[in-house]
Parts: sequence; structure tokens; C-alpha cells
Amino acid sequence: MKKQIVLLPGDGIGREIMESAKAVLEAIAKKYNHEFTFEKHAIGGDAIDQHGISLPEETVQACQNADAILLGAVGGPKWDTVSPNIRPEKGLLGIRKALGLFANLRPILGFKALLHASPLKQEIIEGSDILIIRELTGGLYFGEPRERRDNGNSAVDTLLYTREEIERIVEKGFESARIRNKHLTSVDKANVLESSRLWREIVEEKAKEYPDVQVEHLLVDAAAMKLITSPSQFDVIVTENLFGDILSDEASVLTGSLGMLPSASVRTDGVGLYEPVHGSAPDIAGKGIANPLGIILSAALMLRHSFGLDEEAKEIESAVNACLEEGYHTADLAIKNGHQVGTIEMTNAVLEYLK
Ligand code: NAD
Ligand code: IPM
Ligand code: MN
Repeated sequence: MKKQIVLLPGDGIGREIMESAKAVLEAIAKKYNHEFTFEKHAIGGDAIDQHGISLPEETVQACQNADAILLGAVGGPKWDTVSPNIRPEKGLLGIRKALGLFANLRPILGFKALLHASPLKQEIIEGSDILIIRELTGGLYFGEPRERRDNGNSAVDTLLYTREEIERIVEKGFESARIRNKHLTSVDKANVLESSRLWREIVEEKAKEYPDVQVEHLLVDAAAMKLITSPSQFDVIVTENLFGDILSDEASVLTGSLGMLPSASVRTDGVGLYEPVHGSAPDIAGKGIANPLGIILSAALMLRHSFGLDEEAKEIESAVNACLEEGYHTADLAIKNGHQVGTIEMTNAVLEYLK
């Protein structure tokens, strides 16, 4: 199979872990006789430094022509004072919007070897297998107006959702639940927000088309609590943009570390942007200790969702599992025994299993 992959390393540890994911994709291509070609482009702070903006037109063009895109992370203190319109994060939001990637899938699957690395008790997380589906191109992140008023002394952001935007993400939720454990939790704040009341109405309407899926509504504050007290009660969670951002970082502790979590940003065709859930981690950037498994597992999601290469995806996931079982771990995972290694050694361990 021939595929054109755009790599967007971005900033901070994004640049370090991208090399790991590329090496893993190359190993898979070699083993299974695929031809993957890679093209690197700038985004985020890296693009600001090179082109003065966080999302250059040539990056958008390259992504539009690609079969799939892999992103490291954007942002960092160096660009915290630039104008809000060109901030690194704006580049990431821009590429999601430009490609119409409205559904962000964040699977939270605990590896057995990491059960004791989680701050939660082992008996609480055991058996948890959650898919968070986050709406990615609407809501507070994109609504207009968004501005300062009153000489900068008031500020407004707009939480706007259209019926169409809610319908397509809710459908994604039902479709995903149907092929998993047939349970969908819709998370909203319908006791306060009008947009949430529309969201809940639409979930109720759609539920009639999926009688085989059991639906539950949870208010976001209670959902945040239940993710910690009884994570194994969840199957698929569908929620709006900001709630999904917050709940997925929270849920990452179930896997032992934020550095473990992959994600897929997709639309209705096969094109997708794959990115670890974590950010550029300025506190550890340049030290060679970042956990590369989140982006490596994101590359596996790319093979599965964009290229239909399920066997190859499983091969990567098994290699990661085997390394963890063997005791390999990076410093972010609170594990006392085993071999604590850096980014490169962890990557080499995965590559060794792929041979
Ligand atoms: P962060 O996710 O970068 O880091 C949070 C904590 O987790 C830090 O202590 C960091 O060291 C640790 N961590 C994250 N990923 C890790 C990994 N792979 N291995 C080991 N440890 C890891 O969040 P932050 O510090 O709040 O944000 C830093 C910058 O990243 C900000 O500019 C923010 O806007 C940006 N950000 C970008 C993305 C993205 O590009 N998708 C996501 C989140 C935050
Ligand atoms: C994420 C990040 C981004 C988001 C930021 C960097 C814009 O936190 O991918 O979770 O909020 O979507
Ligand atoms: Mn986030």
C-alpha cells in the first residue's frame, strides 16, 4: 500500500517524539511491504518562527493533499505573549477546522503492566475501557464574537452549536457504541446551558434510531467525579469540545500518564489527523525523557482508521504492551521497578519488538 503522510512535529517534545513515531511507521512499512512517504511541515511556534504565522498556507495545502497527518504538539512559553490571532494553539485549531475534522476519538485503555502506575486504586481502574468522543470544530473554541470589550475590561467568548454539528458527532457516538459495548454516555450541562439542552434533545431523537444502544445522560460535573470513582461503568462518552478537552486529560490518569494517550481527529471519510492528547511539555522539553508511546499509539490509530491496516495497528499496540510488560517505562510513569529509560531507548525497545 502507498500512502503519503504529512508530519507536523510542532514544538517542545513534539519534535522529539515525532522521530519515534516515524521510525515505528518505517519499521511497519518495511515489515509489511508498504510504501509510506513522509513530508514534514511547520505548525505552531515553529511556524511562527519560520513564517510569522502558526498555520502557513503551504502546511494547509500539504495536509489537504495527504492521506493522513501526524502531529506532535504545539505551544510553549516562548510564544505566550504573541497576539492571540497567531498563537501556536491557533494553528492547531485552524488545521482541525480547515480539514473539517469534527470528531476527536480518545481511547482510554489501561495496559495491565501500568495498573499500579495510576494514582487510582488498581481495583477501581481494572476493566476500564473508555472511548471519549470529543466534538472538535465547534462550541466555545470557535464561536463568534470572541473579543475584549470595555477597554479590555470585559471579555466575551461564544458557545454556539448548530443542529447539524451536534447531529453528526452524536451519530459518531452511537455508531461507535454499536460496535463496542453498546453503551453511550452523553455529557452536557443541560441544567444550565441552552446549547446543552439542544444537545440532549438531539441525543434523545437519535436514540430512537439506535434501539440496541443504551443511552445515559450525565452532567459534566458528575461525569468528572464518576470518571475517577467508577471508570469501568463507561463505554463510549460523547461530549462537546471544551468538556471533552478537560475530561480526556482527567481520564488519562487511568492509563498511568497523560503521555500514554493517543487520539484520532477524523471526519466522515478516511482522512484524519493523529496526535497524542498531551501538549509540548515545556518543563521536560530537550531533556530526552518524554514518553513517546502516546504518539506511537496515535500512529497505530492512523494505520487502523485512515488506512484500514488493522493487523499492523495491532502489531504496534502489542509491541508497546510487550515493552511495558518487560518493565520499560519513561519517568512520567510512576513505576518503581523495571527499566526507566528515555525517549530514544523506549522507542528502540518498541522497534526491537517489531522486528
Ligand atoms: P502538557 O500536556 O504539555 O504537560 C502537562 C504535564 O504532563 C507536564 O508536566 C508534562 O511534562 C507532562 N507530559 C505531557 N506529555 C508528556 C509526555 N509525552 N511524556 C512525559 N511527560 C509528559 O500541558 P501544559 O503544560 O498545560 O501545556 C504546555 C503547552 O502545550 C501549552 O502551550 C499548551 O497550549 C500546549 N498544548 C498543546 C497540545 C497539543 O498540541 N495537542 C495539547 C495540550 C497542550
Ligand atoms: C488538546 C489541546 C488543544 C485543545 C489546545 C492546545 C488548543 O489541549 O488537543 O487537547 O484544547 O484542543
Ligand atoms: Mn487538551
